[in-house]
Amino acid sequence: MRSFIHSISFFLFLFCILPFVLCQLDSNQMNTMIYISRQLELDTANLSWNATNPCHWRGVTCNSHSNTSVLSLSFSGFGLLNSSFLSMVCQIDSLQSLDFSDNFFESIPGEFFNTCGEINGLKSLNFSKNMLSGSLPTFQKFAGLESLDLSFNLLSGDIDSKLDDLSALKSLNLSSNHFNGNIPSEIGEYRNLIVIDLSGNRISGTIPESVGNLTNLEILILSSNQLSGAIPAGLLVIKNLQRFSANQNMFVTLPRNITNSLKILDLSYNEITGRIPPEFLLRSSLQTLDLSYNRLNGSIPEILSSSLVRLRMGSNSLSGPIPAAPFASLANLTYLELENNSFTGRIPPQIGSCRKLALLNMAQNKLNGDLPVELLNLTQLQVLKLQFNNLGGEIPSQIGQLNMLSVLNISWNSLNGTIPSSISNCGNLTSLNLQNNDFTGFIPDSIKNLKFLLELQLGKNKLQGRIPDMPSKLQISLNLSSNLFEDEIPRTLSGLEDLEVLDLSNNKFSGQVPDFLLGLPSLSLLILSNNRLSGVLPNFSKHVNLYFSGNPGLHYPQHNSPVSRKNRKPTAMTIGITFAVTAVAVVLAATLFRGNPREVTC
Ligand SMILES: *[C@@H]1O[C@H](CO)[C@@H](O)[C@H](O)[C@H]1NC(C)=O
Ligand SMILES: *[C@@H]1O[C@H](CO)[C@@H](O)[C@H](O)[C@H]1NC(C)=O
Ligand SMILES: *[C@@H]1O[C@H](CO)[C@@H](O)[C@H](O)[C@H]1NC(C)=O
Ligand SMILES: *[C@@H]1O[C@H](CO)[C@@H](O)[C@H](O)[C@H]1NC(C)=O
Ligand SMILES: *[C@@H]1O[C@H](CO)[C@@H](O)[C@H](O)[C@H]1NC(C)=O
Ligand SMILES: *[C@@H]1O[C@H](CO)[C@@H](O)[C@H](O)[C@H]1NC(C)=O
Ligand SMILES: *[C@@H]1O[C@H](CO)[C@@H](O)[C@H](O)[C@H]1NC(C)=O
Ligand SMILES: *[C@@H]1O[C@H](CO)[C@@H](O)[C@H](O)[C@H]1NC(C)=O
Ligand SMILES: *[C@@H]1O[C@H](CO)[C@@H](O)[C@H](O)[C@H]1NC(C)=O
Ligand SMILES: *[C@@H]1O[C@H](CO)[C@@H](O)[C@H](O)[C@H]1NC(C)=O
Ligand SMILES: *[C@@H]1O[C@H](CO)[C@@H](O)[C@H](O)[C@H]1NC(C)=O
Ligand SMILES: *[C@@H]1O[C@H](CO)[C@@H](O)[C@H](O)[C@H]1NC(C)=O
Repeated sequence: MRSFIHSISFFLFLFCILPFVLCQLDSNQMNTMIYISRQLELDTANLSWNATNPCHWRGVTCNSHSNTSVLSLSFSGFGLLNSSFLSMVCQIDSLQSLDFSDNFFESIPGEFFNTCGEINGLKSLNFSKNMLSGSLPTFQKFAGLESLDLSFNLLSGDIDSKLDDLSALKSLNLSSNHFNGNIPSEIGEYRNLIVIDLSGNRISGTIPESVGNLTNLEILILSSNQLSGAIPAGLLVIKNLQRFSANQNMFVTLPRNITNSLKILDLSYNEITGRIPPEFLLRSSLQTLDLSYNRLNGSIPEILSSSLVRLRMGSNSLSGPIPAAPFASLANLTYLELENNSFTGRIPPQIGSCRKLALLNMAQNKLNGDLPVELLNLTQLQVLKLQFNNLGGEIPSQIGQLNMLSVLNISWNSLNGTIPSSISNCGNLTSLNLQNNDFTGFIPDSIKNLKFLLELQLGKNKLQGRIPDMPSKLQISLNLSSNLFEDEIPRTLSGLEDLEVLDLSNNKFSGQVPDFLLGLPSLSLLILSNNRLSGVLPNFSKHVNLYFSGNPGLHYPQHNSPVSRKNRKPTAMTIGITFAVTAVAVVLAATLFRGNPREVTC
């Protein structure tokens, strides 16, 4: 084998001294590269590792002027299991960057730290997405290292003093490991740090005050740990800090003030209590503020950063009216989520000035008044959720202007009037939920034009009259229950090939249960309870959960035993489970089909 390598390199050497220079890689480096390539059982042809010049191999970068030395090596995604070749790699002393990410290494050979630590020019080391376990290795002598990425491994123990020699470090990524212990206060001595990511570990204790000394810091990510205590005041005045994410920890207080440079602040899923200080966002150019899932009370500050793109304050104990003034000038606001609080009063019409809004969620509050017509100016809106409030009045007749709308949920309010026929212009609707309001009149004929509609919830209203043709893609549910529908179950419900849940209960449907319902191939839940149906029930497949109590004239076929399973009331749980399962499947399917995944949380 050795003689084979020698003969190859001699052969290559001959090439190099020919007038048409094919390669000039230093012969030591050439030997090392060839040695490494023999050690690895790679599909050499596919990776171009069969080329005579290693500078042409996939993942290898040489100095571009002469190709005399290797500057960076990436073995990312090579599927490597055996890390023993690593100690060889550092014989190439011109290396600046080494990427071993996305392999299956379980350990790093000790020799690696001895040899690679001596390479002064080595700036970047990436072991992300391997299976390294044990404690954080000690990086002795890596005095020039600027970027260390050990994310997505199985490393554990604390990070105290293990980074001792990494005085040049600018970027440290230890996310998604099993580290515990505290953040060492010595971290403040690594003055060159620009990026720190410690998210997804089990780090506890407080954030040391010394981080305030990291004046170059731009990104600090501490999400998903067990950190607690106060957020040091010094941290949020670092003038370069742009992103601070400390969501999913156990912090209990908000910092008083944030700096002008901060663009992203995520403190969601903590245990923060108290009010949002009125001057919290003073002078700020914040773009994303996420305070959702805390225990904040009081009201929303009157001053909001005019750069806001995403504002999330859902699932707190906030109250009072939603202030109008700040929303008049949030021209870039795209996501506004205030759900599950105790806000009172009207939806401020000024929201209509936030022309870029794609998501508006104010569900589960105590809002009253009507739907401001100004909402119709939000032509970028994809998701509008206002369910579980005390809203009254009618749906504005030009609702069809919102033609990007995909989810409209205004259920569980006191809205009245008729369903405007212009709703069919919201041609992208997948879910329309008008349940539990006071809507009267007919379902508009145009409803069938909602080609992407998967779910139509019209239950608990005062709708009546003829039931028009339904959108043919309906899948999750068609719910017409608890309305004033009468006469026979209409043929317009036939041909819904994907429909899984049909609820016609608590109306005054009469006559026989039509045979065409047997022809709905996807049906899994059919609720006919409390109508005036009569005759013999058709023989539904056993895959259909059927409920028909409260129809005194309705009989089970004689030759089938009238099994009790059929003649009971649906429990909230069976319906809930069916909805949940189909909803998940359908949302997935919809996302895949439309091929246009939206950055919208619902
Ligand atoms: C390397 O393998 C590829 C793919 O099989 C082939 O196209 C190419 O000619 C080979 N190169 C050399 C120098 O053998
Ligand atoms: C070559 O590698 C790519 C991934 O890098 C893979 O998708 C492809 O199937 C491979 N081709 C062969 C012939 O092994
Ligand atoms: C060095 O190698 C690269 C391929 O890795 C090639 O694109 C470049 O032209 C080579 N430079 C010289 C001077 O040969
Ligand atoms: C890993 O590779 C080295 C040589 O490169 C070899 O000696 C060793 O047996 C290999 N280990 C395993 C587990 O295959
Ligand atoms: C390390 O590699 C992973 C996976 O290839 C990549 O996503 C990440 O950006 C790399 N880290 C750095 C600091 O470049
Ligand atoms: C840290 O690494 C993870 C996994 O590769 C990556 O998703 C994350 O973006 C990195 N953090 C930073 C700040 O680059
Ligand atoms: C910040 O650095 C200064 C000077 O090096 C030092 O005196 C001070 O104690 C440090 N602050 C913290 C909070 O560690
Ligand atoms: C918040 O910061 C601004 C600007 O730096 C400053 O004027 C104000 O006094 C600070 N407020 C508090 C409570 O620190
Ligand atoms: C809104 O976004 C645009 C484009 O990203 C940007 O130029 C503008 O400065 C932003 N406006 C505010 C008030 O931040
Ligand atoms: C919607 O915007 C237009 C200008 O684009 C304005 O004239 C109109 O008054 C706005 N409508 C509402 C209801 O705010
Ligand atoms: C509809 O609701 C509004 C506001 O609650 C109310 O003033 C109006 O009387 C209601 N209309 C009907 C017909 O009930
Ligand atoms: C659906 O939304 C797209 C933009 O995402 C828009 O171009 C299209 O007109 C909408 N479709 C309908 C039928 O309104």
